[in-house]
Amino acid sequence: TSGENAAENKKQLFLGRMRSAAWSAALGTGALLALAARAYGRRRRAARDAAGPPPRHVAIIMDGNRRFGARAFGPERRLEGHAAGARKLGEVVDWCLGRGVAELTVFAFSTENWDRDAGEVAALMREFVARAAEVERRCVERGIRCRILCTAPERLPRAARAALDRLEAATAPVPAPRLVLNIAVSYGARGEIARAARTLAARCARGELAAGEIDEAAVERELLLRSPPDLVVRTSGERRLSNFLLWQAAYAELVFVEKHWPAFAERDLDAALDEYRRRGRRFGR
Ligand code: IPE
Ligand code: IPE
Ligand code: MG
Repeated sequence: TSGENAAENKKQLFLGRMRSAAWSAALGTGALLALAARAYGRRRRAARDAAGPPPRHVAIIMDGNRRFGARAFGPERRLEGHAAGARKLGEVVDWCLGRGVAELTVFAFSTENWDRDAGEVAALMREFVARAAEVERRCVERGIRCRILCTAPERLPRAARAALDRLEAATAPVPAPRLVLNIAVSYGARGEIARAARTLAARCARGELAAGEIDEAAVERELLLRSPPDLVVRTSGERRLSNFLLWQAAYAELVFVEKHWPAFAERDLDAALDEYRRRGRRFGR
């Protein structure tokens, strides 16, 4: 009947109005969010410029992958946290580029991590091999030189070693790099210092060097990494260095972040950089 038709028309009209109201609300929210994000960016840049330069060299102990994995995917899939952690590194590199950081050193695998169970170690090595080509492409695209810091290369499986060597060789010709990215893999700071001592001792034995000539500068020249980090960040709430850059970090500012590495966000990096800028560095003076 015409009465039923009229009611149906009214209903359709009402639903149509509701739909377009919902759409404009959604569009409005989207636009507001975009505006808010832009405003955040502007405020951040202004605050940054007012507060002085960023640290030249940032080092990160990327900790908490398995705890993140257990929480996100369930305890039996906790090792999937390692893949999430590897993806996070790509994002953090871009954030550092955007903030004018000149050097970034990250701890990816320690010499002590070889003591984890064989299955986990093998999965991590596969992860390195699988990611290396993509890391290489991104580094070359962005003008990043990548160096591998490795104190026990002989422990790496052949495929992992070849992939990491290739990554280093492919990015070595990057001219005037915008960022130097050092990745510590099968790295231990004590091993690095022992290795330097071994090299110096061998030079003494060959008569090229007198023991009395070994000073701090001579030791430093034999380290894998010479430039000291200004800021060391460790994620996942642990407050220790776990054998990372013991020599180089002698005067670094230490910042500990509660979040697990795969959950580390751009705001967390900004907070760490702000914290660094608030610190009064005295170097004993
Ligand atoms: C850091 O995450 C990555 C490596 C040490 C290889 P973990 O694997 O240490 O994860 P947690 O700290 O046990 O959560
Ligand atoms: C330090 O984390 C090494 C890396 C992040 C690669 P670990 O998880 O191995 O250190 P501990 O065992 O908590 O000291
Ligand atoms: Mg850990």
